[in-house]
Amino acid sequence: MQVFVYKNAEEVARAAATVFAAEIFKKPDCVLGLATGSTPVPLYKELARMNHEGLIDFSRVRTYNLDEYVGLDPAHVCSYRRFMNENLFDHINIDKANTHVPCGIGADHEADAKAYDAAVEAAGGIDLQLLGIGHNGHIGFNEPNDVFVYPTNVITLTQSTIDANARFFDSADDVPRQAISLGVGGIMNARRVVLLATGEGKAKAIRDSIKGNIDPKVPASILRAHQNVQFFLDEGAASLL
Ligand code: GLP
Repeated sequence: MQVFVYKNAEEVARAAATVFAAEIFKKPDCVLGLATGSTPVPLYKELARMNHEGLIDFSRVRTYNLDEYVGLDPAHVCSYRRFMNENLFDHINIDKANTHVPCGIGADHEADAKAYDAAVEAAGGIDLQLLGIGHNGHIGFNEPNDVFVYPTNVITLTQSTIDANARFFDSADDVPRQAISLGVGGIMNARRVVLLATGEGKAKAIRDSIKGNIDPKVPASILRAHQNVQFFLDEGAASLL
């Protein structure tokens, strides 16, 4: 694992954008694993700028997002599909048919979860997986648990995650209690993983992930067993290392 520390969130975004641009140059039809949350927004802005300036071409890129809330229609203002459209896909020359977000409103979530893993596999696997991190060390929506859960699955959100994500909803009561998330296996199978964390609020999760034991109670700690993972942190997120 490699850890890079930058001065601020803007520099983290610029550095991460270089990694994504390099991947797209190398493999124009690469498969990107994408994440939601506030942390990747500056990266998405930077990628949109590079695309407008003709520096990168998304026309053949394929994407698979990490997660979606159970029960939210893709058009819902807080759905992750809508988040991705508004923060990235609407601003780049990607073919939306090549963008995938788990379905949170299907009749059979277990079947949808299985189908999602099969689709990622059929696409050739994820070349470059982007991650943020929750305050409790979650990745995607893989919450602290007694065991690592490998396949894509339906997850019951912890109160800490509900509280952290309440800022996107009218109130904490409106935050769905469940989500469908790429499992730890899907993340670990990616050929390369880049985790972004900015702000002091993430410092404890980062310290526990990097310095503690590999432990399902801190889901991001499993990344230390990955052959090709980089953490891009700002000084705040790195402040307890
Ligand atoms: C959500 C997402 C995660 C994300 C986390 C942190 O729970 N499912 O993928 O990493 O939020 O979000 P933020 O970057 O807003 O702190």
